[in-house]
Amino acid sequence: MDTYDATIERLRDAVAACALRHIAFIMDGNGRWATRRSLPRELGHKAGVEALRRTVTLCRDVGIRTVTVYAFSTENWKRPEAEVRAIMRLLDHYISDAEEGREKNRVRYVFLGDLSALQPEMAEKCRRLEKASAEYGDVLNIALNYGGRAEITAACNRLLAEGKTSVTEADVSAALYTAHCQDPDLIVRTAGEYRLSNFLLWQAAYAELYVTDTLWPDFALEDLAAAVDAFSHRTRRFGNLV
Ligand code: IPE
Ligand code: IPE
Ligand code: MG
Repeated sequence: MDTYDATIERLRDAVAACALRHIAFIMDGNGRWATRRSLPRELGHKAGVEALRRTVTLCRDVGIRTVTVYAFSTENWKRPEAEVRAIMRLLDHYISDAEEGREKNRVRYVFLGDLSALQPEMAEKCRRLEKASAEYGDVLNIALNYGGRAEITAACNRLLAEGKTSVTEADVSAALYTAHCQDPDLIVRTAGEYRLSNFLLWQAAYAELYVTDTLWPDFALEDLAAAVDAFSHRTRRFGNLV
């Protein structure tokens, strides 16, 4: 058995032992990766999409059944138009490939965010993919035009429109984009920044946080192993005494 397979097997055991069911990634550092290589930022995003493909496969190989990735924030529209267009084009390709490979991959895709701001064809493709993959058990949530504050605000407005005058935490959770899944156990941020940048603000309440200096396009098995190992040594108290 080579070291790759041995690592996967070791991580499978670790993931099961520490009940790591949902991992979320703030995929940061694409621009820095490109700049360090004197490449245009767009090529950093292209390498970032490759890292996304690799990482989703790795997570499933080690038995993590729900993965959430932060692909584009509500604040990322502030970037130069050409960069936004390049990112959208790359994501559009990724979604097309996911649509084509859905029967082989057997992943349930769910988009978190307001898709109405996207090109109508792209938004339609996202909706089609959600419907066509809804039967599968392993989940990939793609946060696209996502902001935690916008999500909570949209949930409040939805509950008000339903006629509610008072709400419970369960009502709010059920009105969020993530109503179909549990809260993340672990949030991994690449590229060294210690902040959430408006990601899963409600759902992160008791998530463990892990930051690595690795830039997202370089994220590989050893980085996932380091994150899982760190998680496995955390004591999650949820406010209780342990
Ligand atoms: C993350 O990489 C991708 C998106 C935010 C879409 P960045 O583009 O933020 O990379 P840095 O932070 O500039 O290196
Ligand atoms: C967070 O990264 C958003 C995504 C990864 C999609 P940013 O690069 O946009 O975050 P800030 O601006 O450094 O906080
Ligand atoms: Mg960034």
